[in-house]
Amino acid sequence: MKFFVDTADIAEIRALASLGMVDGVTTNPSLIAKSGRKIAEVIAEICAAIPGPVSAEVTATDLDGMLKEGRFLKSIAPNVAVKVPLTMEGLRACRALADDGAMVNVTLCFSPAQALLAAKAGAAFVSPFVGRLDDVGHDGMGLIRDIVTIYRNYPALRTEVLVASVRHPVHVVEAAKLGAHVATLPPAVLRALFAHPLTDKGLAAFLADWAKTGQSIL
Ligand code: E4P
Repeated sequence: MKFFVDTADIAEIRALASLGMVDGVTTNPSLIAKSGRKIAEVIAEICAAIPGPVSAEVTATDLDGMLKEGRFLKSIAPNVAVKVPLTMEGLRACRALADDGAMVNVTLCFSPAQALLAAKAGAAFVSPFVGRLDDVGHDGMGLIRDIVTIYRNYPALRTEVLVASVRHPVHVVEAAKLGAHVATLPPAVLRALFAHPLTDKGLAAFLADWAKTGQSIL
């Protein structure tokens, strides 16, 4: 499973990339707003730091506007994935941008039918939002199960399932068990994947016993 990080904070991205666990980055208009920076500048910096796909989202909602913005975002760096919303116009933009050779990430996916449409529109990634579904009492991981099943039924569909709106490590593990291709993780969730109290306790015990020997390895 590939891990993307879900942030526009370049310092966080660089710190997490040094762990060797970051295969790409996702941003959205809210994350860019939170960074307080110009979108072109921040996306260029992220693309230079991370060789994998970096999603940058259009904010126009009409086809012409999405195509203009998408082409601009794609021109920032070769590893930009243009993110478009899962609307009729968004899927028309997806098809046109994909035909131009762009990687497209179709976002705000909340149903298996929508995911099927995104794949038919030539999306490189579809982003189902598990946390936001869970928040309203729906089964976010059930959506991932359905999409993975549907895509496996049609191997000609090349779209990767990018699990988004991830809130905790259990989302990551469940998505991996289902065979989702990618999970995009808030930095805190990626860090939480490393943690286990028995690891800390075991290490403390080993070091205490080692100290009693008076040895040093080197
Ligand atoms: C990423 O592509 C999505 O925009 C993001 O995961 C949404 O997460 P949220 O529901 O926590 O805002």
